[in-house]
Amino acid sequence: MARAHSKFVCQDCGAVTNRWQGKCESCNAWNSIIEEGAASGIGAMAARAAVKGRIFPLEGLTGESKPAPRIVSRMNELDRVTGGGFVPGSVILLGGEPGIGKSTLLIQACATLASQGHRVVYISGEEAVAQVRLRATRLGLADAPVELAAETSVEDIVATLQQGRAPALVVIDSIQTMWTQSVESTPGTVTQVRGSAQALIRYAKTSGAAVILVGHVTKDGQIAGPRVVEHMVDAVISFEGEGGHQFRILRAVKNRFGPTDEIGVFEMTGLGLAEVTNPSALFLSGRDASAPGAAVFAGMEGTRPVLVEIQALVAPSTLGTPRRAVVGWDTARLAMVLAVLEAHAGLRLGQHDVYLNVAGGLRVNEPAADLAVAAALVSSLTGATLSPESVFFGEIALSGSVRPVVHSASRLKEAAKLGFNAATAPPEAGEGFDKKALRITSCQHISALVADIAAVGAGAKRLRAAE
Ligand code: TYD
Ligand code: MG
Repeated sequence: MARAHSKFVCQDCGAVTNRWQGKCESCNAWNSIIEEGAASGIGAMAARAAVKGRIFPLEGLTGESKPAPRIVSRMNELDRVTGGGFVPGSVILLGGEPGIGKSTLLIQACATLASQGHRVVYISGEEAVAQVRLRATRLGLADAPVELAAETSVEDIVATLQQGRAPALVVIDSIQTMWTQSVESTPGTVTQVRGSAQALIRYAKTSGAAVILVGHVTKDGQIAGPRVVEHMVDAVISFEGEGGHQFRILRAVKNRFGPTDEIGVFEMTGLGLAEVTNPSALFLSGRDASAPGAAVFAGMEGTRPVLVEIQALVAPSTLGTPRRAVVGWDTARLAMVLAVLEAHAGLRLGQHDVYLNVAGGLRVNEPAADLAVAAALVSSLTGATLSPESVFFGEIALSGSVRPVVHSASRLKEAAKLGFNAATAPPEAGEGFDKKALRITSCQHISALVADIAAVGAGAKRLRAAE
């Protein structure tokens, strides 16, 4: 009988070769080529006997469908990000750098769910049972009836989980340590990660348990290996934080059952992760409002207003091409704001280095931050300190005009709640808002903002000269 020919497929770019090679000639990746049987892939079906399909009914867009039931963890920050709790039968990939607090977050979530009477299973492939227990004891959660095991074989795990009452939640910490016998390659490889994830997803769909897969991310932000897993799961949630800050931000990157712009904010304390119900107060704590170059941005994260400080440093450059460095915002967006300030407000920044930082380790993605960034830049350049009780928001157009943004009322309300007394905002942003709570300066054009700040700067200079 003729030998079935295998083909060799690069796991990075999908290139197919007839023989194995150490390096893929198409994408130059090393050790990415894996043998696959000839009977797999598109077109292979035709070679086999034709299979008769089952007939299923088609349905219209209108009709009754029940909303997905939820397993609510009662950790509000976590429930907000999942879209109102875990959906039975769904699979979530939780990504984050090693040491960020993924295991801590999940053991806390498991403990609260188990204390509510749900069956919860925590499988650790990285730590021994004793280590997990020790942590739970330290967090004061040892009484919660969470079922624990240290296992890495997917077949054993699925067999064990099928015993008894189906669990409401299963945590697999982490997917990179799992291995399945259905795939012939060493644990930790892309093929093993994909095979293990497939088996666990199948388990979730058949049993109705919500499954959380933990995935470690590499330095460049990729969930190592599990790029291939990302499209298979129902939700991808990333747990982020800046080294040196105690804040941790939970962010939905993909969610089939909820919004993707909500964030959950936690603080890492000696007693585990504490929920932060008022992130603005946290992000603004410890700010030095007397220095020029700092502006408070009234931002939105999903449906929640969040105030953050934007810091800018504009300093004369000794380099031929001045430096532009940004932490927490978009570099291209900064270049645009700088260009608009040069073209429409007469600022000369070509000989200056520009550094921009969003305080507290938050990443801001909104164009509404343009006006706060511009204010911080102008303040640093002119040496004029902005009022510490003022917030800024608004999108800047290439023409220099300030455009309205969504959720103005929530932004203003949050600012008033936190004791700010002034806001610089796009025209009409303050309509219907109680003017007694907040003095609103409506800013039509970027040149008006620059003139206002420069006037304060000139006043300050005169004061200093008079002293
Ligand atoms: P961990 O949850 O093990 O991280 P991951 O699973 O993402 O790798 O968290 C480890 C870090 O968290 C560790 O550096 C210590 C810190 N930590 C605290 O500060 N307080 C605590 O109560 C706990 C449990 C951990
Ligand atoms: Mg861990």
